[in-house]
Amino acid sequence: MVSRVIPVEDFDLVIFGATGDLAHRKILPGLFRRFEAGQIPPSSRIIGAARTEQDDDAFRAETLQAICEHTTVRKDDPRLAEFLQLLGYVAIDAKGEGGWQALKDRMRKGAVHAFYFSVAPALFGDIAERLAGRGIADANSRIVVEKPFGRDLASARALNATLAQHFDEHQIYRIDHYLGKETVQNLMAVRFANVLFEPLWNAQYIDHVQITVAETVGVAGRGSYYDKSGAIRDMIQNHMMQLLCLIAMEPPYHFDPDAVRDEKLKVIRALERVEPVDIVRGQYQGKGADYLADAGDRDSRTESYVAMKVRISNWRWQGTPFYLRTGKKLRARTSEIAITFKEPPHSIFDDSGTPKANELVIRLQPNEGMNLKVMIKEPGPGGMRLVQVPLDMSFADALGADGADMPDAYERLIMDVIRGNQTLFMRGDEVEAAWAWTDPIINAWEDSKRRPEPYDPGSSGPEEALRLMHRDNRRWREIRG
Ligand code: BG6
Repeated sequence: MVSRVIPVEDFDLVIFGATGDLAHRKILPGLFRRFEAGQIPPSSRIIGAARTEQDDDAFRAETLQAICEHTTVRKDDPRLAEFLQLLGYVAIDAKGEGGWQALKDRMRKGAVHAFYFSVAPALFGDIAERLAGRGIADANSRIVVEKPFGRDLASARALNATLAQHFDEHQIYRIDHYLGKETVQNLMAVRFANVLFEPLWNAQYIDHVQITVAETVGVAGRGSYYDKSGAIRDMIQNHMMQLLCLIAMEPPYHFDPDAVRDEKLKVIRALERVEPVDIVRGQYQGKGADYLADAGDRDSRTESYVAMKVRISNWRWQGTPFYLRTGKKLRARTSEIAITFKEPPHSIFDDSGTPKANELVIRLQPNEGMNLKVMIKEPGPGGMRLVQVPLDMSFADALGADGADMPDAYERLIMDVIRGNQTLFMRGDEVEAAWAWTDPIINAWEDSKRRPEPYDPGSSGPEEALRLMHRDNRRWREIRG
């Protein structure tokens, strides 16, 4: 059961960086899937713009190859041939003159205009200035900007200021692709469309929360980007922060862009500064996979793993820690949020039947679903013996759809841009607040001159991370695929 498809308005979408990796892997295949689903009107236009000199047909051939490489679609699929007819291409010089008039000539009056900046942030300003200055974009146009949105507070502020010279905030769509994941949106549905959880959703009933995003891939192939970034900038400041916000925020008064983003912002502002004792950094090092080799720098101190204890200083969460961990080259690819409730305050049973704490695990990927551990009586005579059992639900089984039918995050997000819905995009102040929180963590690390703890590829991360939990008499959940 996949939701009804509501076609979007006729649009012209320009993809800057259309010959790049993200366009090939995500944007173009995602657009094809939405076209195939009947959501994109056949009159719409998708215009690739990049430095390479080529014509429309060459770009169509390139797109065909990219889609076949990154999806299960076959070359001779008739829908693919129809989709390719939507495509056009303009060779553009982002910092110069070439191509801008040709691009302007391609834009149709009356269609929604969206411009996707899938390019290095250093080009955002040049492109924005030319789009606005030459009348290619107008007050109804939208621009979509990719992560990384800055590398610290100062650079994020500068980027926001540059974009603000040419576009209003309601025209700027800052992507965090985690917000486009079905199961991440489901966090809001679970919390705010059920009465069951909300009364217990606070420090009085929740002992702690664990958020894990574990990956099996390393950084080989993108080491030069990753090494300047590290897990805190690459995952914590954006994706993990968004997950934390959706779990911790107050109910917004409405599912409306500013109402949701206001509540997320309050969470970020309430985050306490993380002290060095509450954070562990790691680097995978071992046979077959070595971070330092992948990064191309034997002296690198950049972390490929981070675990931290985070406190939220507000009424709801005072006293409930959130433990975050993410890393590359770990045992399994899994993203999940585990909420451990407190033990019942008093047991009416004798020792053989002490109730254990309930636990709610929301699996974001793979095998999306929910698991609630509850206590029941073990069957049979001979006294009251309690046992904990899982109420386990896989969304695919419950909805009758297999995972392949779940739209990819980019599909959802690009359609939201065309619809003009910013709910799942980050506002400028939200990004800045996230950097304001991460900056001191990063600076303290740089000042310390310490090296990350080594961990074996295929393990659960460094030993030190276990101690972070043991110190609090808690344990990480096992990383399992
Ligand atoms: C990206 C990071 O934003 O997210 C990558 O730059 C990471 O390092 C990726 O691998 C994870 O996304 P997903 O959708 O595979 O969980």
